[in-house]
Amino acid sequence: MNFEQLKALDQGSAMSTYARFDLGIVRGCGATAYDAQGRAYIDFSSGIGVNSLGYCEPGWVRAVCEQAQTLQHTSNLYYNPATARLTDRLTSLTGMARVFMCNSGAEANECAVKLSRKYSYDTYGAGRHTIVTLRNSFHGRTMQTLTATGQDALHPDCFKPYVPGYVYVPAGDIQAFRAACDGSVCAVMLELIQGEGGVVPLEQEYVRAVCELARQQDILVIVDEVQTGMARTGKLLACEHYGIRPDIVTLAKGLGGGLPIGACLCNEKLQNVMTPGSHGSTFGGNPVVCAGADYVLSVISQPDFLSEVTRKGTYMREEIAAMPGVRSVRGLGMMLGIELTHRTGAQVAKECIEQGLIVLTAKELVRLLPPLNSSDAELKQGLEILRRVLAQ
Ligand SMILES: Cc1ncc(COP(=O)(O)O)c(C=O)c1O
Repeated sequence: MNFEQLKALDQGSAMSTYARFDLGIVRGCGATAYDAQGRAYIDFSSGIGVNSLGYCEPGWVRAVCEQAQTLQHTSNLYYNPATARLTDRLTSLTGMARVFMCNSGAEANECAVKLSRKYSYDTYGAGRHTIVTLRNSFHGRTMQTLTATGQDALHPDCFKPYVPGYVYVPAGDIQAFRAACDGSVCAVMLELIQGEGGVVPLEQEYVRAVCELARQQDILVIVDEVQTGMARTGKLLACEHYGIRPDIVTLAKGLGGGLPIGACLCNEKLQNVMTPGSHGSTFGGNPVVCAGADYVLSVISQPDFLSEVTRKGTYMREEIAAMPGVRSVRGLGMMLGIELTHRTGAQVAKECIEQGLIVLTAKELVRLLPPLNSSDAELKQGLEILRRVLAQ
């Protein structure tokens, strides 16, 4: 199938929810994707932070294939070793007490909302159900998580009514957060680096102040680490950079290494809140997905791997900061946003593809989320293309 045939097939059948680039990817290896003509593209997007070990990493493929040949699915009514191994590794590595496995970031955040409301209801009774989120945040596309997302541009009239029970405050304004805590609030949900919002890191002082105010009022702190978690920033969780211990952490994307996954982790205080029947998911904790994720976690949690992410992120940042047309580079580890002087991220992303490099955008920025195990040679090659495009 050539590209035109692929495009026609897709456009004739799939809902047009995505503004796709003129690129069809048919296979991949490491940080390199290939189109139907065999043309190579260095991939600095990893499928929006999903392919944390790149395309078809042999250990991950082995773990997934072996599990697919052993037990591909069983209901959550029964125990299975692949899922139990992953939940055990997740709790041991993060210091959290319990985890609920699901299939996406939005689903992990849905669980966080239910868990927060149930904790508050069980402890204080009805009426304390509001979730505070930040302006410019992104938490998903389901009706709950879209409502939680603090961006008016993502709340068009056509999807009204949105869901009640959410209040938005500007990031960095502790007085606004204090004012929002009016006795009706059960939780605050934060992305420590607002990824879709333009790779905007929250200030440490603000985050710590939010956590302290929340602690005083028994408001739960939910940290959405769907994009920042799983070694992306050079630590297993971005909250380690901030010195905070959230009540709830949500994960997805890079945890699965390429298969759909989500996880909602909670601390000891919340470990007995969910009871049989209060939540569930048919595919959540699927053994094949979990076997792959357990392999990913075993690799990315190694101290040497984490320090390599930091080293490679610093290298990329320094190289990019010296490129033409770059105003600033922000982010942490291998989650980078490039602010441009005179072009939009979308223009640059299109030109990069023409030159053999896949990058992402976030607002007006170019956003990079390369595979965490990208080699120096792959990074160098991709950066060379980026430099060429920016110099045009
Ligand atoms: C911070 C954050 N939360 C939640 C989501 C939603 O994740 P998913 O698309 O897996 O539902 C995303 C996706 O980009 C995200 O970046």
